[in-house]
Parts: sequence; structure tokens; C-alpha cells
Amino acid sequence: MAESLKVKVAPSILAADFSRLGHETKRAQDSGGDLIHIDVMDGHFVPNLTIGPDVVRAIRRWTTLPLHTHLMIDNPRQFFHPFREAGSDVIIFHVEVGNTVSEGIRELRALGVGCGLSLNPETPIAAVFPYLADIEVLLIMSVHPGFGGQEFIPESLDAIRQARERASRSNPSLDIAVDGGINEVTAPQVVAAGANILVAGTALFRSDNMAEAIRRLRP
Ligand code: DX5
Ligand code: ZN
Repeated sequence: MAESLKVKVAPSILAADFSRLGHETKRAQDSGGDLIHIDVMDGHFVPNLTIGPDVVRAIRRWTTLPLHTHLMIDNPRQFFHPFREAGSDVIIFHVEVGNTVSEGIRELRALGVGCGLSLNPETPIAAVFPYLADIEVLLIMSVHPGFGGQEFIPESLDAIRQARERASRSNPSLDIAVDGGINEVTAPQVVAAGANILVAGTALFRSDNMAEAIRRLRP
């Protein structure tokens, strides 16, 4: 159950100063972040472009924390190997990419990398139920993916509750992450609903004191 899972804070480097990405990653670690969340966008699956495996490789040199690479791209399986090689510890892809989800999960297993699945706010939570026993991280989008700094969609709370209820039977140690609009107001709500990884960009990187901002997100 969620109560027994440690709540982890995951600074999302999308909100970092990209001209100083190494230092920003180190700042996230030194401030008490539990893992680093990296948003990969392709301009097709979402209307924005961000970073590729070479940037992940560069980030890898600046932190010992786990790297969770969130692939918001149309053909995620094509990039599993490059992102694994670059140093990702968990690779998260979207259930909306279609009928290749089971194969994707198998491929990540074979690569020896942690397996994560994500879904967009308009996708029914039941779409991920068949896979909950086979993954380590479920990432529930609480904004429409593509950009940082958006407002939390409150309906996400119900999706979190349903996912945690399901997982309590099939995969009690499943990490349920929430991504988008997490701040000191929404963090306690998503934790109460059953989430245990808080992904936050704006609330952390745009604060003057990241250590304090991270502490404020914790229960
Ligand atoms: C949105 C990304 C998020 C984003 C969250 O598409 O997946 O990880 O960085 O940013 P904030 O915390 O600013 O909502
Ligand atoms: Zn993300």
C-alpha cells in the first residue's frame, strides 16, 4: 500500500537552466532530490522538442541519483537502447503509442532497465491495468504533456486512487508517479490519493531555495 512506500521527490530538469544543465542536476541532488526526471519530446507525440540520448549522457556525469527518462515520443522502442546506454535507470513510455506496449515492456526487461508506463489525462486509467504487475513505475500525467508550468488537472486524483487500488492487489510495491502542476498545494493531495513519486519542475527549479522547496513537497 502507498502508506508503506517512501515518498520520493523527482526534480524535472525541463524547468532547469539548460545552459547550465550539469550544475542544475547537481543542485537538484544536493538539495535532496531522490531521482532526476528527464523529459524527452519529439514534436509529434507532443508539440515540443527537448533532448536526446547525448544530453542524458552528459547529465549522467553530474549525479549519482537514478535517472528516470520519460519518453513523450511516437516510436519509443526505437530509442530504448540509446537511452539505456546513455545511463537511464528507468525508461518510461506512453500507453497511447498503441498495441506494442507488451513488447515494449519485454524489451526494457531484456535491456536490464527499470520499466515505466505513462498515460495522458484524457486516457482512461483502465488502459494501464493489464500492465501494472509488469512495471516498476506508473507515471500519471496531471497536465497535458509538452510544457512545464501548467496547472494540475484535479481529475488526476481519481486516476491515482484507482491505480493504487488495483496495484495493491497485483503489484504492492509499484511506484506511482504524478507529473505536472505539482506544488506544495497539490503534493499532499496526490500523496493522499496514493502517489509516492512527486515529479516537479517549476516548483523546484524556479524557487530560490530548492532544498526548502523539496522539503515542502514531502509529507
Ligand atoms: C510535462 C512534463 C513534466 C514537466 C512538469 O510534459 O512531463 O515533467 O516538467 O513541469 P511542472 O512541474 O512545471 O508542471
Ligand atoms: Zn515528465
